[in-house]
Amino acid sequence: MIEVTGLTKRYGDFTAVRDLSFTVQSGEVMGLVGPNGAGKTTTLRCATGIIPPTAGILKVAGIDLAIDPVAAKRQLAFFPDEPRLFDHLTVRQHLAFAAKIYRVPDHEPRANSLLTELEIADKADQLPGELSRGMKQKLAIACGLLHSPSVMFFDEPLTGLDPLGIRRMKDSILKRAQAGAAIVLSSHLLSLLEEVCSHVLILKKGEKIADGSIAQVSAQFSNGETGVSLEEVFIRATGGSES
Ligand SMILES: Nc1ncnc2c1ncn2[C@@H]1O[C@H](COP(=O)(O)OP(=O)(O)OP(=O)(O)O)[C@@H](O)[C@H]1O
Ligand SMILES: [Mg+2]
Repeated sequence: MIEVTGLTKRYGDFTAVRDLSFTVQSGEVMGLVGPNGAGKTTTLRCATGIIPPTAGILKVAGIDLAIDPVAAKRQLAFFPDEPRLFDHLTVRQHLAFAAKIYRVPDHEPRANSLLTELEIADKADQLPGELSRGMKQKLAIACGLLHSPSVMFFDEPLTGLDPLGIRRMKDSILKRAQAGAAIVLSSHLLSLLEEVCSHVLILKKGEKIADGSIAQVSAQFSNGETGVSLEEVFIRATGGSES
């Protein structure tokens, strides 16, 4: 479960996220949407303990990130939009390193099954410089999943994946939610969110302007029309491309 209460993040004088609260229960996938610069990545970085919030309480699996950051981080995985890899470690060595950090015992069978699931098993002995962009992303995802996190945050997880990779990633996300993970998925691919999310939260200029099931959020911005797509709802809710 993810609980964010009153999150505010300022960079100097600029407020990137203001008084944001939301909850994601075990088994749920929340879509986090908003125009460029709305504060999605900032929210994810705060919720995963990468940057400190200016104010607010952030809990994962019942653990307060400010009180026990190590225990909280052991429960979660963050998949950033630009994965950082180590130039001199092979694919297999990345997984061994992740296993060490997260203290995953006998990680090899699990690492092998993740490499197969993500279709990079044939690259196990290659360095990141020898991988395509999508493969690097898959490697970062494999490393993040190795410790079986109960809480996951995805920032644009499908950028760079091919159509089959996108479908597999969708299935992977749904499979983990069905197994009880609480998941936040930030993406501009609204069709993906329609397929995968139990509810969505729309951010604009760092503030929540709507949240609820896709049907509820659609109703809020559809002016009584039926069959309004999430894309149309998004454009109406956020007022075009300005954030
Ligand atoms: N380290 C930083 N220092 C100063 N300002 C920042 C910093 N990081 C982000 N910002 C600002 O905070 C705001 C929110 O940025 P953020 O990256 O959270 O947006 P986003 O919703 O993820 O956008 P996108 O859809 O483009 O990924 C932007 O105005 C951005 O310029
Ligand atoms: Mg972002």
